[in-house]
Amino acid sequence: MRFGNKVAVITGAGSGIGAAVAKRLAKEGAKVVLVGRTKQKLDRVSNEIVKENGLSYVYPTDVTDDQAVNQLKDYIQSEFGQLDILVNNAGSSGKSSIRDLTSEEWQRVQDVNLKSVFLVSKTLSELMLEGLKRDRSIVNVASLSGHKAGARIPHYSASKAAVINFSKALAAELAPHVRVNSVSPGFIETPLTEAGLQNERFQSAIEQHTALGRVGKPDEIANIITFLSSSEASYMTGSDVLADGGWLIT
Ligand code: NAI
Repeated sequence: MRFGNKVAVITGAGSGIGAAVAKRLAKEGAKVVLVGRTKQKLDRVSNEIVKENGLSYVYPTDVTDDQAVNQLKDYIQSEFGQLDILVNNAGSSGKSSIRDLTSEEWQRVQDVNLKSVFLVSKTLSELMLEGLKRDRSIVNVASLSGHKAGARIPHYSASKAAVINFSKALAAELAPHVRVNSVSPGFIETPLTEAGLQNERFQSAIEQHTALGRVGKPDEIANIITFLSSSEASYMTGSDVLADGGWLIT
């Protein structure tokens, strides 16, 4: 088991990419702490993990809240006494032209996509720096939109570009003890993109623009995050892995 005796925290683990990562890490032996806002969604993922004999722990919380994230740290410390893997995956989108974008909506997206990555990394990396013996890893989920900004998603594009650069800064600061990388997915079939992908014209436009001719699956991103979290990626830090099905080369 690649992750036997390792403890992993995954934010936004109740659905989509986060749920796929949690299941994969648990399958490979990690004790996974499922963090997200909605207990019901986390319980559902946890039940699937337990059915496959995995070890999972549900921790409903809001990752943009300073006090709540401090409590999460206390929980990890008292329950496990260690943290080896952190996946900052929680995120949110939203479409708006710059004309209609309110300061509140701008701030909401920065808080969920960027502040949470800063806050959870800052707070939980304290645990990762204790007893510095094993390979430790943080993976932050950025986006294709962090590389190629799009019309009507200025707030999302800005937040994800910042996640990529924040990850590099954090990698420099936490080296050599904790490796920090980011992943930038293209269009992936999850609740985040569900509404858009139900529109056939939108879906076929995406497929045409993607070199591989299709939308991605959460498991295909989970594979990359699992690799980056493992000691097989022991010489990788400060990298961003773009997994866009070839969107940028068309
Ligand atoms: P999703 O909507 O299934 O997952 C996001 C999760 O984050 C949800 O479970 C949600 O409850 C949780 N979350 C949101 N705000 C939170 C908060 N304040 N505290 C705790 N949890 C919170 O969507 P998906 O696609 O799985 O998204 C995962 C990540 O992947 C996000 O960061 C997203 O921006 C990124 N991404 C997704 C792409 C896609 O095409 N689906 C493309 C590029 C990036």
